Amino acid sequence: MSVTVRVPAKVNVQLAVGAVRPDGFHDLANVFLAVGLYDEVTVTPADELRITCEGPDAASVPLDRTNLAARAAIALAGRRGIEPAVHIHIAKDIPVAGGMAGGSADGAGALVACDALWRTGASLPELLDICAELGSDVPFSLVGGAALGLGRGERLTPLDIGGAFHWVFAMAERGLSTPAVFREFDRLAEGRDIPEPVASPDLLDALAKGDPDALAATLSNDLQPAALSLYPELAATLAAGHAAGALATLVSGSGPTTAFLTRDPESATKVAEALLTSGTCRTVRVASGPAPGALVV
Ligand code: C5P
Repeated sequence: MSVTVRVPAKVNVQLAVGAVRPDGFHDLANVFLAVGLYDEVTVTPADELRITCEGPDAASVPLDRTNLAARAAIALAGRRGIEPAVHIHIAKDIPVAGGMAGGSADGAGALVACDALWRTGASLPELLDICAELGSDVPFSLVGGAALGLGRGERLTPLDIGGAFHWVFAMAERGLSTPAVFREFDRLAEGRDIPEPVASPDLLDALAKGDPDALAATLSNDLQPAALSLYPELAATLAAGHAAGALATLVSGSGPTTAFLTRDPESATKVAEALLTSGTCRTVRVASGPAPGALVV
């Protein structure tokens, strides 16, 4: 018997970053939107914990206990006093180290899958608690949809969304490490006063109305200058998407995936084709959001 869970990628439509805290994390106002690019996590009883992965980026996925999917299984088993004896297989479609919460998705997916397989009957608050221990973005991967994340990004409030938003994502040649991007943010911010991060009321209003033009006018990512500083070639990708008619362009989370908001699926296809022929990225994907969170399939 095995259980498979499908779990979405995310884009941050607003990422407001505050000053570094004593614990090394940053307070955020993080507006997450789940989008229809998915990993599938399958768990099957086994003699001991092991992980396998398939997909275009599979070679760069760690297959040891540092993998968030393994850590999720260990955390849940630990709370129940059982052995995490499962084979976890990840069918990976979300880019690795891309700023789209692919690792977080696998953590949330493995947690939901193990809960179902072991019939541990964990409540949603307990699952979210384990997710928050695993990483700042993992709780959102579990719930999906759209949400405002405060604190490290783990304290979630669901948001109303008035319609689907259509995106193109351009995957970069190499990855970026999230801690390195936050360190670069700190370096660039040195000597400046950093305001408290707050969600933009205009952006929340644009989401509630499902209005892509209004969303385009309010998208923001405070990590974008840091990501561009570490990966200057991304500027050419953003420019190519802009020239192709995207309503707005943005680095996704800590990058280096770039995100292009478009008015409808037809313009998304057009922007995707232009980005692909621009030679400024490794590959492109079209996806819309909001998408549901982690679900057993
Ligand atoms: O929580 P997570 O393990 O995903 O965070 C990875 C790294 O990103 C942290 O170690 C930290 O360097 C940085 N981070 C941060 N502030 C946040 C979230 C992440 O500085 N709110």
